[in-house]
Amino acid sequence: MSEGRLIIVSNRLPVVIDKKKDGSFSISAGKGGLVTAMAPVLKNRGGVWIGWPGIIEEDGITEQNLGELISKGVKDSGYELEPIILTKKERDNYYEGFSNEIIWPLFHDLISLCNFKDKYWETYLSVNKKISNKIMSKIIKDDFIWVHDYHLLNVASELRQKGYNNRIGFFLHIPFPSLDIFSKLPWRKKILESLLEYDLIGFQTPRDKRNFLQCVRRILRNKVQARGRENLVFIKSQSRDVLVGSFPISIDYEAFKDGADSANVAERAWFLHENLPNRKLILGIDRLDYTKGIPFKLKAFARALEKYPDMQKKVSLVQILVPSRVYIPKYKELKDNIERMVGEINGRFTELGWVPIYYIFRSLKREELLAYYRTSEIALVTPLKDGMNLVVKEFCAANIEETGIVILSEFAGASAQLGKECLLVNPFDVEKTADTIYEAYKMDYKIKRKKMKKMRNSIKKYDIFWWVDNFIKAGVYQSYEEYIPIKDFDFDY
Ligand code: UDP
Ligand code: G6P
Repeated sequence: MSEGRLIIVSNRLPVVIDKKKDGSFSISAGKGGLVTAMAPVLKNRGGVWIGWPGIIEEDGITEQNLGELISKGVKDSGYELEPIILTKKERDNYYEGFSNEIIWPLFHDLISLCNFKDKYWETYLSVNKKISNKIMSKIIKDDFIWVHDYHLLNVASELRQKGYNNRIGFFLHIPFPSLDIFSKLPWRKKILESLLEYDLIGFQTPRDKRNFLQCVRRILRNKVQARGRENLVFIKSQSRDVLVGSFPISIDYEAFKDGADSANVAERAWFLHENLPNRKLILGIDRLDYTKGIPFKLKAFARALEKYPDMQKKVSLVQILVPSRVYIPKYKELKDNIERMVGEINGRFTELGWVPIYYIFRSLKREELLAYYRTSEIALVTPLKDGMNLVVKEFCAANIEETGIVILSEFAGASAQLGKECLLVNPFDVEKTADTIYEAYKMDYKIKRKKMKKMRNSIKKYDIFWWVDNFIKAGVYQSYEEYIPIKDFDFDY
């Protein structure tokens, strides 16, 4: 990589600006894995973060208001924020429409939830163009542009059309689907061609990378040839040598560990223990999203209570649901469904002094989150499909007593790295998941400690700073001939 600045471009900025009922504006932290992962990277290296702070032009925010709020949001952060404001139409068609009603469900293997509409695609292209205009207006010589996630697949193509020829990296935070599923996308060819305008494309796991390569071979049949070694592969496209690799994203391990060890968190954790004596806590933390498999999880928990009545009054599930994309009808339906299920399960099992499910629908402050991580004995992480899932890594980092155990979906990217030390489940298999909950509940603490130690060591070694170094190192290779294999990691994929 050049010596220039790091320019991160993603749809979501680490701050969200909202218009309140009284017409004033508020600022809060962005949610989700991309923001958690990238904020420490920029803090550490400095640079610029370009993206959308969540408000629309029609909200009528003035430049002055925006400037004041943004500078408040990045105070002492060590990097610059460059906000892009969308119009209502852009938000509806590009963000909610193409990104979240087409690419998101399709890439998570949920084709029946896709809503294919040409107008979504048209706006997606025009917003990718708008974002590339913004990038062009901000970059200076030697900057390294690193674009993130499924909202911005077409940005490199736009930048190339404007004559930009320096290296551009791309990382996909979500899974890349198999050929059978990707082929259903009406714009499949154009999307693959656009991706090949990047110089370096990173995926979460080797499986995602393999899926992508297969799509390139089959859909762009005569145009590419892949060759390479280790976890990186070069593709010769029409215009360039494109390097494709897998880079499992991670967290700032030390920050989560030290945060969990702080006096404030210890006090909160102690408070939870005191108020729920003789109770093992099972923890679920998910963004409100149908990919997270929450209804299956609730069914499995209820089945475990029914099948293993000795767990009754001895365990509670704390299910935290972080509000997300609530204006998209499928998300609203999901929320109603989850709340109905929680009500039914609690209605069926609750007794004086014991509630089976504590349900929380809001964002948590970091200290509150850490207290739940630290207090809970079992993490129940059962997405139907997930790029990585950082909750599981955060739970382990914060588990400083090393007595927790993780029940993990085999369809989360994290299972490639941590699967051996977790209790792996197929989240669609409710009966087996219920049995696994019981197994975790009964598990001997010495076995748990051994497993947790191994997981924590792995997360510590392959933390977010390792991830960014590897990606950026890969970014320097310009062609297959120059390529020196990067030291591979010892994950079992
Ligand atoms: N998280 C958050 N706000 C909360 C609770 C959790 O932003 O109130 C964070 C959590 O710490 C984690 C992220 O949301 O870093 C969830 O990331 P994950 O990879 O598990 O899933 P994603 O939401 O990105 O699909
Ligand atoms: C996932 C995506 C991110 C996204 C986050 C939160 O982690 O990979 O790109 O930012 O979910 O979703 P939202 O739609 O609120 O940005």
